[in-house]
Amino acid sequence: MKIFLDTANLDEIRTAARWGIVDGVTTNPSLIAKEGSSFKEIILEICSYIDGPISAETTKLDAEGMIEEGREFAQWHANIHVKIPATIEGIKAAKVLSSEGIKTNVTLVFSLNQVLLAAKAGATFISPFVGRLDDVGEDGATLISDAVQVIERYRFSSDILVASVRSPNMVARAALCGAHIATIPFKVLESMYQHPLTDAGLKKFLADWQSMPKNQ
Ligand code: E4P
Repeated sequence: MKIFLDTANLDEIRTAARWGIVDGVTTNPSLIAKEGSSFKEIILEICSYIDGPISAETTKLDAEGMIEEGREFAQWHANIHVKIPATIEGIKAAKVLSSEGIKTNVTLVFSLNQVLLAAKAGATFISPFVGRLDDVGEDGATLISDAVQVIERYRFSSDILVASVRSPNMVARAALCGAHIATIPFKVLESMYQHPLTDAGLKKFLADWQSMPKNQ
């Protein structure tokens, strides 16, 4: 499973890039708005740190507007994936952009039918928002495994990109469900490395090493 970072914060991206396991980055208008630079500047700077798919989201509501924005974003950098909402207009735009060879990420996906429609439009990535489903009492993990099953059964080319991840447990669930990608906030990614038994074991190993006679 590929690991993307779900942030537009350049410090977080630079730090995680050094960890050597980040395959791409997703952003959205809310994440970009927190950073205080221009959208294009942030996206291009992210492209300079991570050599992998970088999602940049359209903000128009009609297919024509999304297509125009998508074509422009795609010219900025070869790694840019145009993020489009799973609406009728968005799926129309995804179909056009995909047929032009522009990579897309259909976002705000909350049902298996939206997964099916995005796959039929040739979306590169399809992003079920599992945390937001869990927030309203639905089961995000079920949507991941159902989506993977549909993609595999009909041999669609789209990858399931698990989004709205809130905990390391959800990343593990995504991997067990066979998701192709999980996009993970920095804090959650950092916590995936942590286990108290690793810390305790390391402390004991180092204490035993220090207690050895120095000439051994
Ligand atoms: C990523 O593509 C999504 O925009 C992001 O994961 C949404 O996460 P949130 O539900 O925590 O805002």
